[in-house]
Amino acid sequence: MHTPLVRKAAVIGCGVIGAGWVARLIENGVHVRTFDPADDVSSKLEAVLINSRHAYQELTNAPRHEEGQVEIASSVAEAVRDAGVIIEAVPERLDIKRAAYEEIEDSALSDAIVASSTSGIMPSILQDQMRNPERFLVTHPFNPVYLIPLVELVAGRQTDPQTIERAGLLFDSFGMHPLHVRKEIEGFIADRLLEAVWREALWLVNDGIATTGEIDDAVRFGFGLRYAQMGIFDTYRMAGGEAGMRHFIAQFGPCLKWPWTKLMDVPELTPELIDLIADQSDDQSGHLTHAEMERLRDDNLVALVQALKTKGFGAGETLARYERMLESRDQT
Ligand SMILES: NC(=O)c1ccc[n+]([C@@H]2O[C@H](COP(=O)([O-])OP(=O)(O)OC[C@H]3O[C@@H](n4cnc5c(N)ncnc54)[C@H](O)[C@@H]3O)[C@@H](O)[C@H]2O)c1
Repeated sequence: MHTPLVRKAAVIGCGVIGAGWVARLIENGVHVRTFDPADDVSSKLEAVLINSRHAYQELTNAPRHEEGQVEIASSVAEAVRDAGVIIEAVPERLDIKRAAYEEIEDSALSDAIVASSTSGIMPSILQDQMRNPERFLVTHPFNPVYLIPLVELVAGRQTDPQTIERAGLLFDSFGMHPLHVRKEIEGFIADRLLEAVWREALWLVNDGIATTGEIDDAVRFGFGLRYAQMGIFDTYRMAGGEAGMRHFIAQFGPCLKWPWTKLMDVPELTPELIDLIADQSDDQSGHLTHAEMERLRDDNLVALVQALKTKGFGAGETLARYERMLESRDQT
């Protein structure tokens, strides 16, 4: 008989990321209690759950789990008391996160995993005032958490290696692709890369080279398509032709010394630059509501992952593996 690795979970902070975690967890049959002091938590969570249910209906024909229950708790203590895994998704501020861990540790089960969604704060810093830092790790997800498979697992100095191992098995069972970031670094792997592209994009707008829409076109009609199926290194290996990576580096290595990048610097985010970016973004996508954009994004992601599944590749391979897991569970 298939036994879920955890039956109960807590999500502390139920904004964009926390609500996405709730959706991913209940889709996998886990009962979730969430705590968030915001007044509108219930309506915001419901909107995300509607999106997630729609996405999964489109994503897979495999026998899905019976959905876990969701409860909105009135305190951290109530949310965490019987949870096997506790996911923190409060704002990206060290003081708020540390205060949340203190409350979590007051009431959590002694063997519960405590996982932070931080985008880039080092786990050694996050865990350094904890009473049981060995069961703490970073599980860095990507929005929308219920659809994007990647989750970066990062240990701090005091994390027990078994915590990483347990988390790997757990998030794998949720249909995700856990990537163990073996060395602790601010921003981990993915946000290091994203930050570089984001900085360049800000320069291009700041310097009047391109609008937000033109920059997005440069991504989505071109290298964004390549990156959805092969990463940077395989893409550049192929750009080197038969001779591969060595030829690519011989040809394009010297460009690294040319003024092609402003990476070491960032434009100052003046009110004027913020207005320019926000106005261009409104021109680009202001005709769509946020809810319409979410649905468009999710439908596109589902279509991409399903296409990759037909090739058994990348995120499509993760979906195929998840479906095999759901099917074998159904037959036991
Ligand atoms: N937005 C993203 O794309 C993204 C991606 C990956 C990781 N993250 C990380 O996830 C975390 C949450 O980010 P977000 O984008 O969901 O932010 P958000 O502002 O959408 O949500 C944060 C929520 O935390 C709540 N909150 C504030 N103080 C709290 C407390 N003491 N206890 C419980 N809840 C509290 C707020 O009311 C809010 O609903 C951050 O660490 C962020 O870096 C964000």
